[in-house]
Amino acid sequence: MGVITVSSLAKTFPGPVEALTDIDLQIEDGEFVTLIGRSGCGKSTLLNLIAGLLPPTRGTITLDGVVVSEPRRDVAMVFQQPALLPWRSVEANVLLPAEIMGLRGAGPRALELLEMTGLTAFRKKRPHELSGGMQQRVALCRALLPRPKVLLMDEPFSALDALTREELAVELQRIHLDLGTTIVFVTHSIQEAVLLADRVVVLTDRPGRIRSLVPIDIPRPRSFGHNAHLDEVAATAARLHDLLH
Ligand SMILES: Nc1ncnc2c1ncn2[C@@H]1O[C@H](COP(=O)(O)OP(=O)(O)OP(=O)(O)O)[C@@H](O)[C@H]1O
Ligand SMILES: [Mg+2]
Repeated sequence: MGVITVSSLAKTFPGPVEALTDIDLQIEDGEFVTLIGRSGCGKSTLLNLIAGLLPPTRGTITLDGVVVSEPRRDVAMVFQQPALLPWRSVEANVLLPAEIMGLRGAGPRALELLEMTGLTAFRKKRPHELSGGMQQRVALCRALLPRPKVLLMDEPFSALDALTREELAVELQRIHLDLGTTIVFVTHSIQEAVLLADRVVVLTDRPGRIRSLVPIDIPRPRSFGHNAHLDEVAATAARLHDLLH
C-alpha cells in the first residue's frame, strides 16, 4: 500500500509566514501525482510534511491510515542535487540506506536497480566520473533500494539539460510502471508535470491551497517525441499554463 491522506493541513512558519492552508488531498496507492505552483507557494513544504520532516501547524497526514509524525523508512526522497558521497563507488552509494537501516540481502537489489537505470557498467566508478543525469539516476536507485511505498521527488531533474531531463522522465514512467510506487513529484515545468502524472495538483500562490486537481488520461509511455499523443500533452499543458498565470 501507499495511500496518502492529507486532511485540513496548514503550515505556518515563524514570522509568521503562512506557507500552506486548507490542503485536503488523497493520493491513491501507486498513483503518480505531480505538484506545480509558483515559487514560494509551499510545494517543498508539502513534501517535507508528507516526509515527516516538518510537523503540521494544523491538520494531519496519514500514510496507510497511520499518522505521519516523523520520517519513515518506507518513504524516500530525491532532491534537486543528488547528494552522493564522493569517496564511495556508485554501487556503495546505492547501498548506503541498507547500511543505515541494517537491511540484509541488498546487494542483488542494488545490482537490479543499477541495471534498470542503465548504470551497470559504471557501478565501480566514483560520482565525479559520471554525468549529472547519471548521478541523479544513482540518487534514484539509492532512494528505491529499501523498496519504499512512497517516493517524494523535489524538482529532481531541474539541474539537468533538456534532453537528459526528458530521457529521465521517460525512464521514471517505466520504473513507476514496474514498481508501482506511489510518487509525488514537484516540478516547475508544466510539460514535465503533464508528461509524468496520473494527476496534476495545481497550488495557488502563497499560502498554497489546492487550485485544481487535473487528471491526465493520456496513454503511457508519454514523451515529447513525435507520437500520437503529443497534441494532447500540449493542449493539457496549455490549460495548466492558463490556470497558473
Ligand atoms: N524552514 C522554513 N522557515 C521559515 N520559512 C520557510 C521555511 N521553509 C519554507 N519557508 C517559507 O514558506 C514558503 C513556502 O516555501 P517552499 O520552499 O515550500 O516553496 P516552494 O513552492 O517549494 O518554492 P520553490 O518553487 O521556489 O522551490 C516560502 O515563503 C518560504 O520562505
Ligand atoms: Mg521548493
